[in-house]
Amino acid sequence: MTSPDERERAELLADLRADPPRISPRYFYDEVGSALFDRITQTPEYYPTRTELSILRDEGAEIGARIAEGSVIVELGSGSAEKIVALLAHVRAPRLYRPIDISPRALATTCDGVRHAFPELALAPFEGDFTAAAAYADLPPGAPKLVYYSGSTIGNFEPPEAMAFLRALRARLASGDALLLAVDLVKSGAVLNAAYNDAAGITAAFNRNLLRHLNARFGADFDPEAFDHLAFFEPRKSRIEMHLVPRTQQRVHIGGDVLVFSKPIHTESSYKFTTDDLVGLARGSGFTLEAVVTDPRRWFAEAIFRA
Ligand code: SAH
Ligand code: AVI
Repeated sequence: MTSPDERERAELLADLRADPPRISPRYFYDEVGSALFDRITQTPEYYPTRTELSILRDEGAEIGARIAEGSVIVELGSGSAEKIVALLAHVRAPRLYRPIDISPRALATTCDGVRHAFPELALAPFEGDFTAAAAYADLPPGAPKLVYYSGSTIGNFEPPEAMAFLRALRARLASGDALLLAVDLVKSGAVLNAAYNDAAGITAAFNRNLLRHLNARFGADFDPEAFDHLAFFEPRKSRIEMHLVPRTQQRVHIGGDVLVFSKPIHTESSYKFTTDDLVGLARGSGFTLEAVVTDPRRWFAEAIFRA
């Protein structure tokens, strides 16, 4: 039987040998990557985090009114505590908070922040993949559930994967449970391009750190500084694409395997949505789109999906 580590290594090698080569964006979030993501959210160009927070603060009462009293709150890829603390302020008597994150650093930061703001609230963190059934298996049966999928992280899935993920999530919920789905909305290419090309170079460092993480995790010998950061909005696909472009041909060892890179490696897609997309996502995955709450510029949205 293959171990999870062997499976991950085999998947990584298959992705790197694909044409064009790619790397799963999951690998961004080691200790350094999570810290760099935090710094991205503080750059003047990266508007999504502060825009989502402004929605939670300004429209939190409307969102909170749609969350059943005594709900178990499950957050997917929490990253930090800021958003959930803003949301919890509007939830009536939450029963339990379950953050799920593959990054131990992100999970610890989230738990510290929530414990500080809501010392009475029961916490049940899960360190691991939010696509895994185990992350949902031990939740109290019978309690209403609210799944909060913040940050537009759904946009880092390719569309068929996003739909499959939402379908699987729906199957884990009972009728009447809710999903609060945060999505970044389509807007001007200039605003989008700037958000992924901040002047301080934090997003570039975040992108290159992916290779450092692969070196540490899989015994590879990528030279991150031999790759340029490339990020641009592709309007036909309604997505930001991030790539790492080798400056010269790169010969890389991963354990006993040797790979040669001369083409850009696709490291992330970040899909941008319209309200019509939300209707399609809800319909296709077995939810009803109950409400969409946005900021005054309509840059970002919180959608309430009812199971
Ligand atoms: N939701 C936060 C953080 C977004 S960054 C925000 O809105 O600011 C994405 C977060 O999801 C990171 O903390 C990362 O570690 C986590 N993550 C990414 N893919 C994941 C996966 N497959 N399973 C669990 N966590 C994941
Ligand atoms: C987590 N995710 C939604 C971020 C995004 O905007 O797609 C990750 C990120 N990549 C570059 N900057 C931020």
